[in-house]
This record gives sequence, C-alpha cells and structure tokens, in this order.
Amino acid sequence: MKYIIANWKMNPSSLKKAETLFQRIEKGLQGLDLLDKKIVICSPYLYLFKLLNFKLTQEKPATLLYNKQILNFGAQNCFWEDNGAFTGEISPTQLKEIGVEYVILGHSERRRELGENYEMVSKKIKVSARNNLTPILCFGSNSRDIKKEKQEIQEQIKTVFTNLSDLNDLSEKIIITYEPIWAISANKNSVPANAKRAQEIIYFIKNIIKDYNIQAKSYIYGGSVDSKNIRSFVNQDSISGVLVGGASLISEEFLTIVENV
Ligand code: PGA
Repeated sequence: MKYIIANWKMNPSSLKKAETLFQRIEKGLQGLDLLDKKIVICSPYLYLFKLLNFKLTQEKPATLLYNKQILNFGAQNCFWEDNGAFTGEISPTQLKEIGVEYVILGHSERRRELGENYEMVSKKIKVSARNNLTPILCFGSNSRDIKKEKQEIQEQIKTVFTNLSDLNDLSEKIIITYEPIWAISANKNSVPANAKRAQEIIYFIKNIIKDYNIQAKSYIYGGSVDSKNIRSFVNQDSISGVLVGGASLISEEFLTIVENV
C-alpha cells in the first residue's frame, strides 16, 4: 500500500478555501488510477468536521473513494488522554468519533515551535493506537551531516519506543516518516533530500526499529516533495509514500503527485 499524506499545516486561511481545495482534490482523484493508494487529508482541526461531512453528501463515484477507504482524513496532532481538564487540546477519542482515521505525531514544527518532545510523542502514540487511529510518526534532524543525523534519529526512536510497553499492539499500526528538517519547504534555504539519502536513512530507521520488534505499515518520505521530484523518491524500494506539505495546497500539483506515486 502506498500512502500520500497531505499536511495542510495551518492552511488555508478560510473554511471556504478549504472546501474548494478539498472538492478539487476529491473531483480530480476520481479520474486517477488509485490502485493500492491511500490518500490522507490532514487539515486543521477546525475544517475536519466540515470536510468529513462532504463524504456523506456525495453521489457515486465519489462514494467509492470513501467506501474503499482510498480518501481518508487525518489530524495534525492530538493529546495523550481520552478526555479531561486539558484546555485547548483534542483527544484521539474525539477525533475517531468524528471519523478521523490518522494522526501526524512528532512533526518537527511542533517540536520547534511548541517544545513538543519524543516523550510526549510516545504517550500520544499509545493513546492514538488504542483508539484505532493510525499514527504517522515523524523522525528527522536538522543536521545535514549524515552521521549526526543518524545519531539523532536513533535517539528519537529510542525515546519513543522505550517508553512504550505494549509494543506488540503497535506492530503494523504505524506509518513512519523520515522528515529531514532542512528539507521542509517552509524552512529558510531548504533543499529536498536527495532520494538516495532518503533511501539510506529509511533503511537505517527500519533496521533500528527491528530491535523493538516493531513492523511499520509503511515508511514514507517528507520534505519539499513536488510533482517534479516525486518519482525519484518513490522509485526507491524502501519508500512507499510521501508526506506533502506546501504542494498539497495546490490541487493540480497534489493530484500529479498522487498520480506519480
Ligand atoms: P513540505 O512539508 O512538503 O512543505 O516541505 C513537509 C513536511 O512538513 O513534512
């Protein structure tokens, strides 16, 4: 299975624009070959409920996208408890209840801007998985020095998985993303990772994760993916999908990416 995850981040600026973008994507998908592909739209929380309702009002053939779980919804974060006195937070239970199936966890922007760390991410994974949400777990460093990058990623993985006890329950339930921070398009002077390097790091991650007896559902790459470089990434045998930020906000661009995965 190949995953194409759209991370809209804190965009677009209005519900109207979010609806238009979503409708264009939904319409465009109907003309594509989507065999073995899953598309996940991770919009801001505010829009999720409205977008989820579109699927209830659709006629065929759009319903096929939902009945076959080709088009799905994800959140960009969640909290680590099911409910309670946690002002401003949203729980995995609440997300699941409205029909969300995926959640991005450990994104570097949350780590940088909000002080999120991998101990927190670890707790979030546990509660997400218990609620049958699929965590899209991000690992990545800001170092372009491959040795340092590997060391940092190894530490991140260790923190996440040593803090989780019932690891067996997680097997085949998580998607792992290699997300080099220096490759994220919104970051100054960003450069997309070279596909060979992405392949090497993903093999490295796969190897370490084996020590924790975890099997991920899929390993994907994220960082300045666009319609021009998509083939170079998915041509690598370790990469079975992409996390797309900026390019997922332009419907034609995103649809071309989906087509080429
Ligand atoms: P980008 O974002 O595609 O805009 O570089 C990717 C990410 O945030 O992981």
